[in-house]
Amino acid sequence: MKIELTQQSRRSSIDFSNLPFGKHMSDHMLVCHFKDGQWLEPEIRPYGQLEFSYGLHALHYGQSAFEGMKAYRKDDGAISMFRPLDNFARLNKSAERLMMPQIPEEIFMGGLKKLLEIDADWVPNAEDHSLYIRPFLFASSEFIAARQSDDYTFCIITCPVGPYYSGSVKVKIEQEYTRATGGGIGYTKAAGNYGGSFYPTAQAIKEGYNQVIWTDHKEHKYIEESGTMNLMLLIDGTFLTPPLTDRILAGVTRRSIIQLVKDQGWPIEERAISVEEIVSAAREGRLQEAFGMGTAAVVSQIDTIGYNGENFSIPVLADGKAMEIKRLLNDIRLGRSEDSYGWMIDLPVGEIA
Ligand code: COI
Repeated sequence: MKIELTQQSRRSSIDFSNLPFGKHMSDHMLVCHFKDGQWLEPEIRPYGQLEFSYGLHALHYGQSAFEGMKAYRKDDGAISMFRPLDNFARLNKSAERLMMPQIPEEIFMGGLKKLLEIDADWVPNAEDHSLYIRPFLFASSEFIAARQSDDYTFCIITCPVGPYYSGSVKVKIEQEYTRATGGGIGYTKAAGNYGGSFYPTAQAIKEGYNQVIWTDHKEHKYIEESGTMNLMLLIDGTFLTPPLTDRILAGVTRRSIIQLVKDQGWPIEERAISVEEIVSAAREGRLQEAFGMGTAAVVSQIDTIGYNGENFSIPVLADGKAMEIKRLLNDIRLGRSEDSYGWMIDLPVGEIA
């Protein structure tokens, strides 16, 4: 691996007590090109500008996918990544569907470890803070014929982050637009899935909400995801979340929370949940809690669900199940409880800069 270190670290110019999500990139990045059917030597270099032409394939056809994951500073000072192999596997799943090459594990994991080692100083140590890691893969040939690219580029950039949302959120059940269709790319983390969501989300924001709850593409009858997150509801003491289909992203946080809920012995069902079921539970006071699950926000409590112009309030409890789950997860991430699942991958201590 080629390594070029920055001459001038930006670390001391960043206010770590005020970290807007995704704004301040760490000093270094990983870049690896795929050309003539093979991966070239990965390179770590100072974070900088793109150096491609306006014919860059990804800009025209959206052959591009990304991941989101986090590294934590444990209470003992060690740096630890949360389930990075899950994100690695998912990026390759996205790559397959989008006709992009598979990334070898040694490039992804080897590059990531080296990058974190070099930018170890950028991993915050405050409560609810972490280093957000953004691996991405895009088509980097220069031509504008509509076929898959020949060349690709894989990068990893990172940024220290605080909480994604400052409080609980209001969401609107979407009845007009859809995020994904059957046979489509909803299960991938394709860049275009996000591009397509901004317009409906902006409409919801105009109406006073923060996000939408996506519903199925055929009838808008069943709920799917919430904004960029998976959704969990607590109705009549049972946790409910929609099952994975080709329209839903298999969230790593979702998978982890399902495991934790099961292991607490709390009832949980992965099944189709109709809008009707949520609305009647909300009306009858049986909808006890609702929250989004994602890498960025981890657990994001929902205080209001809007449907057909009517708003339903949902309890946002400081000592409820959502917050208990968040604590269970954080305790594992920060080394406060035993990682019996093997979710954390520590950076070797000696290698931390
Ligand atoms: C999430 O964790 O919800 C994400 O997908 C990350 C977001 C910044 C796109």
